[in-house]
Amino acid sequence: MSIATTDLAGLVQPAKGTVSRQVYVDQGIYDHELERIFTRSWLFLGHTSQLAQPGDFLTTYLGEDPVIVARGKDGQVRAMLNSCRHRGMRVCRSDEGNTSFFRCPYHAWTYSNTGELTGVPKFRLGYGGVLDKKEWGLLEVPRVEEYGGFLFGNWDAGAVPLTEWLGDFRLYFDLVFGRDPEGVEFVGGVHKWSVSSNWKIPTENFACDMYHVAHSHARSMEIGLLGPSGDDGYEIAAGMGFLGNGFGPPASADAEGAPVHPMATMATPYSEHLAAQRARVAERYSQEMSRVVPGGHGNVFPNFAFLDIELLRLVRVHHPEGPGSHTVHQWCVVDKSLPAEVKDALRRQYTLTFGPSGMLEQDDGENFRECQASMRGVIGRRMENNLMLGLGQDRTGAEIVGDGDAPGAGGGIWSEANQRRWYEHWLSFMTGQVRR
Ligand code: FES
Ligand SMILES: [Fe+2]
Repeated sequence: MSIATTDLAGLVQPAKGTVSRQVYVDQGIYDHELERIFTRSWLFLGHTSQLAQPGDFLTTYLGEDPVIVARGKDGQVRAMLNSCRHRGMRVCRSDEGNTSFFRCPYHAWTYSNTGELTGVPKFRLGYGGVLDKKEWGLLEVPRVEEYGGFLFGNWDAGAVPLTEWLGDFRLYFDLVFGRDPEGVEFVGGVHKWSVSSNWKIPTENFACDMYHVAHSHARSMEIGLLGPSGDDGYEIAAGMGFLGNGFGPPASADAEGAPVHPMATMATPYSEHLAAQRARVAERYSQEMSRVVPGGHGNVFPNFAFLDIELLRLVRVHHPEGPGSHTVHQWCVVDKSLPAEVKDALRRQYTLTFGPSGMLEQDDGENFRECQASMRGVIGRRMENNLMLGLGQDRTGAEIVGDGDAPGAGGGIWSEANQRRWYEHWLSFMTGQVRR
């Protein structure tokens, strides 16, 4: 099915605050997303702490395409399509490891960790020694770039540089991941799991949805895992939604540094460290800017997401897997400078709350799955979803944070301004109006 631009503009109306449910269930729209968004966007590959040594590798996806990300023997990080050039078999089946070569499980073609075809069984007997191995290496992703240790890949050789893609959102990205002088590392390996919902449903949540927290996570609040439930006292905090490809994070503390939303009120072994980081941010930028530490939910278009709260920090990707499913890849992130026991406490808090069997992840996963299930029916898919929360109440970043230099704009904490903006962005990609 080909999608007319006019059809899409009718389906998604951010200014009005409505989104047709077709965008979550229609195969044609989904295929268009893979083409229009996932072959032209900077997509998260991994973190340099996962690929510290030559030979270190991990496997992930760019859109639906499986890729190997490897630090080659020459020290360079490359991303390569994880599909054998012989007859298409997935060459590497491991999540991560260290190797000098990848051998295809099917007929044993062998590739170096830089992607060259180095070994072909029966090269002389079967191919007469004439197969040109240089022509049959793994397909390399044309662009791989790094920002603050975060590696992104792009299938579009003509894409703008990653730093331009992140744009002014880099300030908030730095406040989440670059506020410690030694930087961050990924600990505890990767968690991977599938959820029967369209990839945009969790993406809307991370972009960022504070509206659901008090109700969906009420049980976690009751047992003290999160702070007290939200009320109008949280009005001051806000989502930064208008920063190019970045969405979120909310300001999470008031001007005096007191937490203002429920996900930032829990005292943990990590709290002292966070307070020191707030003080550092206040000194470097301003007291007001330190309100963005920790940063809450965030999303870099299209499917890179993070959560930064007093309990933990995590990074995840919502990989598309057909209109009705997505696979999550998720990691716990800690500051390198933290003592080992605090890193371990954070990793355990991460597992307990947002790991695949974590209490809050169970709440959210059920929401995502049941949204999809109720929208995919013949009648259900004809309807529209409502993104009208806080419509007409947007403010500038300077107004939200209270610092005249804070870029961007957004709504209050009870707002779907970020989601409306995200769909505006989605529409510009889907209709081809976006500059690469
Ligand atoms: S498909 Fe890989 S060697 Fe045949
Ligand atoms: Fe949630």
